[in-house]
Amino acid sequence: MERKWWKEAIGYELYLKSFKDTNEDGIGDLRGIIEKLPYLKELGISLLWICPFYPSPMRDNGYDVADYYGIDPRYGTMKDMEELLSKAKEAEIRVIIDMVLNHTSDQHPWFQEALKNPDSKYRQYYIFRDSKERPSNARSCFGGSVWEEAEEGVWYYHTFAKEQPDLNWECPLLRAEIHKILKFWLEKGVSGFRLDAITYIKKGASLAMAEPDGPDGLHDVGSLGQNQPGIGEFLKEMRQVCLDGTDAMTVAEAPGVPYEELGEFIGEDGYFSMVFDFSYADIDLLPGGNWYNQAPWTFKELKELIFKSQCSVQKQGWGAVYLENHDQSRSLNKYFREKAAAAEEKEKHFLQASALAVLLMGLRGTVFLYQGEELGMVNCPFSSVDEFDDLNTKDQYQRALQADIEPEKALKYVNDRSRDNSRTPFPWSGEKNAGFTQGVPWLKVNPDHTLINARQQSEDMQSLYHFYQKLIALRKDPAYLDVLVYGKIEEIPVENEGVIAFCRTAPDGKEIQIWVNMTEEKVSAGIHAREVLADNYQGTEIENGILMPYQACMILV
Ligand code: NOJ
Repeated sequence: MERKWWKEAIGYELYLKSFKDTNEDGIGDLRGIIEKLPYLKELGISLLWICPFYPSPMRDNGYDVADYYGIDPRYGTMKDMEELLSKAKEAEIRVIIDMVLNHTSDQHPWFQEALKNPDSKYRQYYIFRDSKERPSNARSCFGGSVWEEAEEGVWYYHTFAKEQPDLNWECPLLRAEIHKILKFWLEKGVSGFRLDAITYIKKGASLAMAEPDGPDGLHDVGSLGQNQPGIGEFLKEMRQVCLDGTDAMTVAEAPGVPYEELGEFIGEDGYFSMVFDFSYADIDLLPGGNWYNQAPWTFKELKELIFKSQCSVQKQGWGAVYLENHDQSRSLNKYFREKAAAAEEKEKHFLQASALAVLLMGLRGTVFLYQGEELGMVNCPFSSVDEFDDLNTKDQYQRALQADIEPEKALKYVNDRSRDNSRTPFPWSGEKNAGFTQGVPWLKVNPDHTLINARQQSEDMQSLYHFYQKLIALRKDPAYLDVLVYGKIEEIPVENEGVIAFCRTAPDGKEIQIWVNMTEEKVSAGIHAREVLADNYQGTEIENGILMPYQACMILV
């Protein structure tokens, strides 16, 4: 197995807007990241993924880019970015940035020019159609048609909000612009890119009429718009022109790629270094993507999805693993549902969160933690729909009401799934606004910051933060690299469906087993440890092969 820096990296997704505010405007900024680099370094992070920081009207929190070469003044300046890149390098932390290349903001000068002047070259950068009627009936990800009428009889296409018009990758001039942008940032010193919504760039089925899948007469763009035939040509060209011959990495948000096709995406000669798989992150949803359609999943299904994903990726290349990101609710709530510990239940909270930590840090692939996961942050209670900022959440609330769901229930569904759960300000301390800002925070601060915060956990050597620190150190330890990073993964079949168990094996036969009891029961599991490397019952021997409630461990056998 070829060694690469990005296979060994410990990633951390940083949602800039909520990380640390230094200028009292209520939103995080680049100087805030610089200030907190020591915190990340101490945790053991070696790769930062920073969410979009470009000038943007923030209709979708920066995933609507108005200038790919700039920094939004609310986040700082290009000088701040350069300083961040150089300080991160000193701290041996690589930085990758989010590239949103499926669409721009409708305020981007390209789009403005395209609207103003149909003869300009920028008209070709987007997808316009002359038509009396809506040209097709795909439903955009944030609700309503993918088509918006720019003027009478002229439509443009958007996979996401109408303020996020899709780019036309068929246009060679547009592709050349994209290549220029990627090269610009590589020259600035970033180590690679997270490629947003990249499997939507080739348009196909969504341009034609489809069988409606809902009362609105539309059909979900997910199944019609992702991974369309011919996408590989664009992706291969991008890789060849911008990335070949560099040691930069790419991690693609790649929904819609079936496991059988993964080789093309992440194999030897694949388009990307790795992709994010959504199969188990979306276990709580039924097909169609409506949050009110919650799936009644079991641990047995969770295990099946995890190992199907891990084994398919391992056969064909390299993957990225995560339990949380800025589009998901918090993992404690997602995976333990009504059994999830409240912040007050300190012991149970530690056990559940550390069990997930052992699971994540044992999997094969580049690990990405999401900010606050190292503290065991939980979902934030939102008591009215007006408290949410996220446009997706507001749309999902409306969808629930339209499906005749009572407002109280609709609010519960969006509370469970809202992307704002993971976007609440980072709790640096138990003080006012969780130490995130001296100003007015842009989004509600989770009221439990008095119990779950970085200061308290940094000081407490028994905290989740320090448990993560130990697991990260273990994963980075040269003695275990062959096993924990490069080793094979194989499920250990366990009768109790609430126990997730697997082994990682190096080519020389060295084996580490990972055991995670997801239940509140004591379980007999038949474990035989030669040496315990990590155990969330800190010091308790795993005697007689028994796992305590929520016990999780890594053992040498
Ligand atoms: C995926 C991003 O992760 C999400 O936050 C965003 O809303 C959409 N892509 C559109 O860019």
